Amino acid sequence: MSTLKVTLVERDGREVTIHDAGIGKSLMEVAKANGVEGILGECGGGCACATCHVYVDAEWQDVVGPPEVLEEMTLDGVSHITRDNSRLGCQIVLSREMDGLRVAVAPPQ
Ligand code: FES
Repeated sequence: MSTLKVTLVERDGREVTIHDAGIGKSLMEVAKANGVEGILGECGGGCACATCHVYVDAEWQDVVGPPEVLEEMTLDGVSHITRDNSRLGCQIVLSREMDGLRVAVAPPQ
C-alpha cells in the first residue's frame, strides 16, 4: 500500500477525506493538491509561515508526535491560536501508521 486515507476538517466544519494520500508526502502537500480550504502553504513547506497549521485529533497525537524545535518556533509566532495538538501540516510526513489520520484546519492567523 503506497497511499492512505486522511481527513481534514475545514474551518466551516466541512470534512474533506482524501483516499489516495501518498506515503512520504507532507500533509500540507496533500491538502493543497486536494483543494482543502485554509491550508495555504505559503512558504512551500519551509516551516516558516504557519499557513498550514492544523490541530491533530487527540487519538492521533501519539502517532503524529510532537513538533521539532524549528516547528515549535514557527508555531510560537501564532501562539494566540496554538493548542497542545498544534502541528504544521508541512512537517507531518505521511507514513503507513497514519492511515485514517484526522486533523482540523486551524483558524487564520
Ligand atoms: S507551509 Fe509554511 S510552515 Fe508549513
